[in-house]
Amino acid sequence: MENGKILVVEDQDAMRESLVIAFRDEGYHVEGAASGEDAIQKLDNHNIYDLVVTDLKMKKVDGLEVLKAVKTANPSTEVVLITAYGTISTAVQAIRDGAYDYVTKPFRHQEILKVAKKAIEKKSLKDRVRYLEGEVRDKYKFEGIVGNSNAMLEVLKVTSHVCRTESTVLVTGESGTGKELIARAIHYNSLRKDGPFVVINCGALPENLQESELFGHVKGAFTGAIKDKMGLFQQAQKGTILLDEIGETSPSTQVKLLRFLQDGEIRPVGGNRAVYVEARIVAATNENLEKAVESGKFRKDLFYRINVIRIHLPSLRERREDIPLLVEYFLEKILEKLKKGKRAFSKESIRALANYSWPGNIRELQNVIERTVTLSKNEIINADELPLPIEEFAALHSDPMDNQKRKSFIVTTLAEQEKNAIIEALNKYGGNQTKVSQVLGISTTTLWRKIKKYRIKPQHEISDKIDK
Ligand SMILES: Nc1ncnc2c1ncn2[C@@H]1O[C@H](COP(=O)(O)OP(=O)(O)OP(=O)(O)O)[C@@H](O)[C@H]1O
Ligand SMILES: [Mg+2]
Repeated sequence: MENGKILVVEDQDAMRESLVIAFRDEGYHVEGAASGEDAIQKLDNHNIYDLVVTDLKMKKVDGLEVLKAVKTANPSTEVVLITAYGTISTAVQAIRDGAYDYVTKPFRHQEILKVAKKAIEKKSLKDRVRYLEGEVRDKYKFEGIVGNSNAMLEVLKVTSHVCRTESTVLVTGESGTGKELIARAIHYNSLRKDGPFVVINCGALPENLQESELFGHVKGAFTGAIKDKMGLFQQAQKGTILLDEIGETSPSTQVKLLRFLQDGEIRPVGGNRAVYVEARIVAATNENLEKAVESGKFRKDLFYRINVIRIHLPSLRERREDIPLLVEYFLEKILEKLKKGKRAFSKESIRALANYSWPGNIRELQNVIERTVTLSKNEIINADELPLPIEEFAALHSDPMDNQKRKSFIVTTLAEQEKNAIIEALNKYGGNQTKVSQVLGISTTTLWRKIKKYRIKPQHEISDKIDK
């Protein structure tokens, strides 16, 4: 096995030859260059080395210039400098410029061999990491899913394994983290991709309608059931069903889901014949299902049936390094949609976006980008054009504030403020949600979602609970 490829750059012939021999004896593939120009020539000819050992002081083209040329040709090649006493400060500078180390003349061969070995080990480790990173990135790529953080790469890795199986999957994560996106990716990259993908939002279905919506009903099953109705499950034959907000299913729906997961059978409401449905279940929730099981709200046996493979989506603030990528992605998408000229976020605005806490995660980020770009007049978008909470936070962020303080700041500024505004308005208007949504300038659906999100109790129970 070859140990690595080394180039020795040294204008003193005897010195160069003895080094070449010493390295060769250790099993390296070695070349010599009699001057800096000679070395640069070799680099220009696309020779790639693992290590370049170069004398610092040479006529015309010196070691520093060789270092620069090496790093331009191939940044991962390591460089070790040979210095004479008196040029050490230059060598130190060279290390700042990317050299691996230096040895001072006079030195024993053992010494330089040791440094060279370490430098080459470091390079091969770097190459390996880079290769693996690239491999993971390319292998687990899904269209429309952006993310390069370790946390996200791990999610994508599991997702891509899951695509090749038929297992039931539970996708968890805060609101707006991309649960539905992942569920879609699973379906469209699985063998079922030509079958239907049916999304059932269990939270939006009133309990008394859940069963008939999911499993259908027969004529005469209840008042108003004037003919047989096919349920959503049957519409998903040979496809995938996303059971969104599965924690919101009623106890009797849970029993039916359990039966389906055990035998693949459903029974339309009022019917006595079982219907066989061949569909894969992906369940999603932003609730803590373990807690729901503990409190008796969710069946334990059903939980075990759906919790076969778990994909947890990290919140955006747990993977801030993805924010610039996401900003870029949403910016391009919105510009295309609006047919607007070029736009870019300034460094400060990117920083502000990356520092914000994103309680609404990627959905909130997407909305902020769309809104800001739509309203923007200049090519460069500055931090002061971003919606208020981010701006406030950015300003505060530059203060020396410890993490704990920062966290509490976020909580009281955003989520809590929103929650309190809703509670106050509900109190003021006697719980009239239509009025409240008008006053707050949001749709009734959004209001309803937020009431649920913040677990705001019905009006008569909250009148004395505003804590700020
Ligand atoms: N990694 C990502 N890359 C690009 N876009 C993303 C990513 N994650 C989420 N999005 C986008 O963010 C928005 C919210 O995602 P999605 O609806 O999947 O979230 P969710 O977890 O299901 O939210 P909720 O709990 O509120 O239903 C969507 O427009 C989606 O396309
Ligand atoms: Mg969703």
